Amino acid sequence: MQRLVPTLRRDGVSSDLVPVIRTLLAATKEIAFRVRQGALSGVLGSTLDENIQGETQKQLDVIANQLIKDLLLEEPGVRAIASEEEDNAVAGNANGKYVVAFDPLDGSSNIDINGQIGTIFTIFPALDGVAADSDEHFTQPGNRQVCAGYVLYGPSTILVMTTGGPSRVYTLDTTHGSYLLTQDQLSVAADTQEFALNMANQRFWSEGFKGYVNDLLLGETGPRGKRYNMRWNAAMVGDVHRVLTRSGVFIYPSDNRNPKQPAKLRLLYEANPMAMITENAGGKAWSETQRILDIQPDALHQRVAVIIGSANEVDACLNYLK
Ligand code: AHG
Ligand code: MN
Ligand code: MN
Ligand code: MN
Repeated sequence: MQRLVPTLRRDGVSSDLVPVIRTLLAATKEIAFRVRQGALSGVLGSTLDENIQGETQKQLDVIANQLIKDLLLEEPGVRAIASEEEDNAVAGNANGKYVVAFDPLDGSSNIDINGQIGTIFTIFPALDGVAADSDEHFTQPGNRQVCAGYVLYGPSTILVMTTGGPSRVYTLDTTHGSYLLTQDQLSVAADTQEFALNMANQRFWSEGFKGYVNDLLLGETGPRGKRYNMRWNAAMVGDVHRVLTRSGVFIYPSDNRNPKQPAKLRLLYEANPMAMITENAGGKAWSETQRILDIQPDALHQRVAVIIGSANEVDACLNYLK
């Protein structure tokens, strides 16, 4: 089985970018180890702190953030980092060519139930003439990402990553501590009979979106003419991985629960990397009115609606929103 670095070379990845990816992944191996140890490594439970998004931080949110941050800030190729758990961008090496953003621990509510959790990351080129600690590095549209990936700490630890070419799957070999290529190209089917969304928010959705979901629920007797199943892990990494593996559509629509916050997921370190991975697996990733990767961000922690997965199902959903 091919190791990570030769695969990156085969993909023509710049020799400046390879060490940045390796450093980031070194941190995920440490997180994977701590996650496996569970209660034995003191990673369960909550802290008393809140992040800038008003979420109570779990111990593992803080530990994972610190591990990734510390390693990346020592990596010469990194100009700045941004994280779900950091208020603003943090400066790294002034000569670094790249900036890295991450959701250190996705699926925080699954930590204490021994459920699916992961890390999501994205790498952009650093902007010249901009201060190293400026949020501006992180408000580039997703179509400028040079690398996007997620690590899923499941029964096995897997890495799904693209550097512009195909989305590839690697499995962490815990005996050697290396990510080995186990699927050369992930490819998501265009049609599906499975959807992933939090149905409890139904009353807060737009009429168009309610209409779409109603028709899914009508199954073979409705206008969609087929029976659908619903799955919801409460961790985007797990839900999107299921979609990319088995087909499906993962949706977190905007809603009117809180007028100041019409969407839940964050563009920079959740929607954008998942969108790039999905598109490079042949799927489609839209917000309600445009392709996620074309959104021009205006803030680091900006939130966005997401409709991600099997291309024909994403199109079917968008048709109801017109
Ligand atoms: P995070 O744990 O990084 O804050 O992200 C949680 C996100 C995402 O992973 C998941 O899809 C969604 O929140 C779950 O939302 P619900 O609470 O509505 O199920
Ligand atoms: Mn969170
Ligand atoms: Mn998340
Ligand atoms: Mn998180």
